[in-house]
Amino acid sequence: MLSPTLVDRLNVQVTLEFYSSNLYLQMAAWCDHKGYPGASAFLAQHASEEYQHGRKLFTYIMEAGGLARIGATEAPKADYTGIGEVFEQTLQHEVMITGKINALVKAAMDEGDFSAFQFLQWYTAEQHEEEKLFRQIVDRIRVIGADGKGIYWIDKEIGKLAKGVSAT
Ligand code: FEO
Repeated sequence: MLSPTLVDRLNVQVTLEFYSSNLYLQMAAWCDHKGYPGASAFLAQHASEEYQHGRKLFTYIMEAGGLARIGATEAPKADYTGIGEVFEQTLQHEVMITGKINALVKAAMDEGDFSAFQFLQWYTAEQHEEEKLFRQIVDRIRVIGADGKGIYWIDKEIGKLAKGVSAT
């Protein structure tokens, strides 16, 4: 059974994961609007993954006897100076989320809640993969450059990373 403190903290993370989903979906819209279909498909697919991260936490809270709650989220930024800024921001966002997950893992450990601690390991591993993925994209953009032909190849490469877009 989750403590009231852990329920509150996990609910904050639920809201953050849903915010991440909105952020990436908004970025996907910007990329589509500017003519970057590969990046748009990748980000839309990632938005669906973030939604699932939120749902997984939501279900865990319910199963562990807590009241799952969705908090308010602000509107994500909708304008970017270029694809470089979009992906620099995804990386910064994931680094911030990793910090939040680490703090949650520590809170579960401090409370001796080993069920929550074990559940959160999935998120720890996921953050490692996501930071690695976004860092690779940012590095590629920095090396190739986001002007002229470079942007065409970058968009194609990022599109290959999309595993298929789903609306859920
Ligand atoms: Fe759910 Fe990209 O972290």
